[in-house]
Amino acid sequence: ARATIGLTGLATMGRNLARNIARNGHTIAVHNRTTARTTALLEEYGDEGDFVGCESLEELVAAIERPRAIVVMVKAGEATDAVVDELVPLLDADDIVVDAGNAHFADTLRRQEALAAHGLHFVGMGVSGGEEGALDGPSIMVGGSDHAYERLQPVVESIAALVDGTPCCAHVGPDGAGHFVKMVHNGIEYADMQLIAESYDLLRSVLGLAPAEVADVFEEWNGGDLESFLIEMTADVLRHVDHESGRPFVDVVVDAAEQKGTGRWTVQDALELGVPITGIAEATFARSLSGHTEQREAARAVFATEPVTLDVDRDTFVDQVRAALYASKVVAYAQGFDHIAAGAEAHDWDIDLGEVATIWRGGCIIRAQFLDRIREAYADEPDLTTLLTTAYFADAITDGVDAWREVVATAVRAGVPTPTFSSSLAYFDGLRREHLPAALIQALRDNFGAHTYARVDRDGTFHTRWAEDGRPEEQQDD
Ligand code: 6PG
Repeated sequence: ARATIGLTGLATMGRNLARNIARNGHTIAVHNRTTARTTALLEEYGDEGDFVGCESLEELVAAIERPRAIVVMVKAGEATDAVVDELVPLLDADDIVVDAGNAHFADTLRRQEALAAHGLHFVGMGVSGGEEGALDGPSIMVGGSDHAYERLQPVVESIAALVDGTPCCAHVGPDGAGHFVKMVHNGIEYADMQLIAESYDLLRSVLGLAPAEVADVFEEWNGGDLESFLIEMTADVLRHVDHESGRPFVDVVVDAAEQKGTGRWTVQDALELGVPITGIAEATFARSLSGHTEQREAARAVFATEPVTLDVDRDTFVDQVRAALYASKVVAYAQGFDHIAAGAEAHDWDIDLGEVATIWRGGCIIRAQFLDRIREAYADEPDLTTLLTTAYFADAITDGVDAWREVVATAVRAGVPTPTFSSSLAYFDGLRREHLPAALIQALRDNFGAHTYARVDRDGTFHTRWAEDGRPEEQQDD
């Protein structure tokens, strides 16, 4: 056995991850269910590093130094279970199986328990950055035991993206924490993309800009606070002209957004935990709405109207949209970090939120200059109640709030849907409002269901005798 690590599953992500590991000087044993992929990897990239090609899982296992570390990079779900089930009988105590796919953290918890019964370690490892990131340096969110991380650390830290000399890789917490943090990363990715899409729609629909002109705006925004991978990519994509039709590329793509499920999981989990991640939820639902082609056609047939033309100054509006985008982005991240904090508490994971911000600064899809501000905020105050109130973000929101309202109001008047802008603004207004109408909801609940309420003027739990004398009655704990 001479390989430091093994990897099975050589589709694009697995192949690139394997090449990244080899390029960084680690001997890697590689395997794929169909050997053709293994052969192709060795033929095309064999000279990039020290690969050991293996035709079977038995060979793979035999090629790795003990305790073994084997990365599984197959489709999340049944495919992962199938490979893990096949591997387990081949392994020895203390060996480590690393799932680098986009698994649901609950599956990771289940697999970890199952492997622990065999004396094996199971590590759920979130990897972000797409194909390119996998090859050149992703952001890596590792779960599992400290013991397993010690074994993996030299490899995973060497292949991660670097920002200011710090690898974008961390052991974020035990068992399912790595996949949990990756799940929320993807939820934020959904919100980020939806905010970008709403900004584009407004600039196009309200100002009548062509895609290439919107690209110019995004390029300019990328030079400021909004600087990020996705904003930069948006400028490139909007400028792209379809080779076949000669039309702006964005106009030849069907307007129905798909999803593989990580955004949906984020929202489902947030509902369970009671964390209002409204930006991510609206972004996820906006994708669903876009895919309801028949309903959209039916609604268009009945409700189609002439576009509303508004008298809006171009430069002013562009700047207002920028401010609205920034403020809504702050809200989406604040909600995402709240979600991670709630998940950490519910599962008893000690997750360092500042560290999460640190490893998201590079390599991953949501990498952005802005994450440095989040890192600083947690460095100043590790037990922060909400990111919104930290000085830097509070200033940005205070400066941008009028523009944010104006953009949402303009969108409403123009009939351009901006669910993430609007819901983020509603969240902000909800948080900062002195009195919420939740008082009325409590009163109604008490009236129809005797669900009780708390009072502003004294402690205790009360029920009003609605049907009798209308007086409040203090409830005694049973
Ligand atoms: C990443 C991406 C990656 C993938 C998403 C796409 O961090 O590298 O998030 O994991 O692109 O799974 O998700 P949807 O298909 O749900 O948009």
